[in-house]
Amino acid sequence: MTATASNPTGLDLQQAAKDHLWMHFTRMGAYRDAPVPIIERGEGSYLYDSAGKRYLDALAGLFAVQVGYGYGEEIGAAAHAQMRELPYYTNWSYAHPRSIELATKIAGLAPEGMNRVFFTSGGSESVESAWKLARQFHTANGERRWKAIGRDVAYHGSSLGALSITGVAGIRSPFEPLVPQVSHVRNTNRFRRPAGETEEQFTQFLLDDLEQRIWSEDPSTVAMVIMEPVQNSGGAFTPPAGYFEGVRALCDEHGILLVADEVITGFGRIGDWFASNRFDIKPDIITSAKGLSSAYASIGAVIASDKVAAPFLEGTAMYTHGVTFGGHPVQAAIALKNIEIMEREQLPQKVRATEDQFRATLAQLLDLPIVGDLRGTGYFYALELVKDSETNATFSDEEAEKLLRGFLSERLYDAGIICRADDRGDPVVQISPPLVAEQQQFDEIVTILGEVLGEASRLVGH
Ligand SMILES: Cc1ncc(COP(=O)(O)O)c(C=O)c1O
Repeated sequence: MTATASNPTGLDLQQAAKDHLWMHFTRMGAYRDAPVPIIERGEGSYLYDSAGKRYLDALAGLFAVQVGYGYGEEIGAAAHAQMRELPYYTNWSYAHPRSIELATKIAGLAPEGMNRVFFTSGGSESVESAWKLARQFHTANGERRWKAIGRDVAYHGSSLGALSITGVAGIRSPFEPLVPQVSHVRNTNRFRRPAGETEEQFTQFLLDDLEQRIWSEDPSTVAMVIMEPVQNSGGAFTPPAGYFEGVRALCDEHGILLVADEVITGFGRIGDWFASNRFDIKPDIITSAKGLSSAYASIGAVIASDKVAAPFLEGTAMYTHGVTFGGHPVQAAIALKNIEIMEREQLPQKVRATEDQFRATLAQLLDLPIVGDLRGTGYFYALELVKDSETNATFSDEEAEKLLRGFLSERLYDAGIICRADDRGDPVVQISPPLVAEQQQFDEIVTILGEVLGEASRLVGH
């Protein structure tokens, strides 16, 4: 192999990937006889593979690259300056300027009264940290509470604690028994609810389910309820009116902490710095990662309310938890620069201003017989695929496997778009582009998806 700028050693990347790289959540056998997709560079909302082919990244990496791929120079310069000044130091008993500045910045963007920031290396670690914090908070208040309540089909991460909270059977079962005593309540999927049900009735139905679960667990043992403001897995489930107000009231009634998992929704994705602001959720703890640095660094943050932080700020009390890379100065410098860019480009405001336009563009796809529903808000949508949009009948597991893995994933990639055909709940296509995407990209998404989903429609007999 000849050396190039992105492959200076001239390594045979394709062969080396097959020989040495262990890809995440990947059926590696699929690449035994097929090439591994190798993404070499990015610009704006686009990625380029090692053959120079361009892809529209309609997933922002993994729901994360808010500013797109074009800020390497500017963010790199901030990382470089930090590397020169202080490449690493810890937040275990010490502070350093960048983690202090970043914590202050985040506290300023977070909902009122959420002023204390604990840094992690990513989303799973943020969720782990929140659960431990919730447990220790109750202990500090003289109670012993340890249980968590999550929601069906929600993904909260892959480490054992976060996986235990995750409500996706297929990725839990290989690792059972998991951390015990987590239960799951209904999510806010409204597709296929009875036709005459009002929004108010739906909200009440969900809150009744949560209340029953709290009682059946024994409320005095429940440490936290954890929910994404808009649930990704299953396909961009938005909360019905009054839902989070009701969840908050139930948590207050039973002394349970409410955790908003904003690993995806945080940092602009739904048109506000935090979805908790947009939906007035008033959480006790927010978990975040991804968009905090636009995924230019592996940094996450747990943001605690003054109430949650208070017991740990007195006397000899301590949150008995930490990770080597928490608040890493270079990662913090990258996150600070990312937020500065997002503020300068007014990305959350831009998302809010263009979300209707985006949704209206995507709604054209509802004309296809295979598209049953369009859900979501901000720059965060899902199309649910159905056998027939007249009946909204869904696919069997076997049919979904054939359609999603056997056809769609590969065909979408071949057609030059990256979005996710996901079957963790009913089959959906998830769309979550960089926040710098504009009408031109919305149109391109619809053109390519329209073509490929049209083929899929014919494949399933339309
Ligand atoms: C809502 C939510 N929580 C937690 C996580 C885990 O984050 P990470 O992959 O950074 O560990 C994810 C990842 O997609 C997520 O979507």
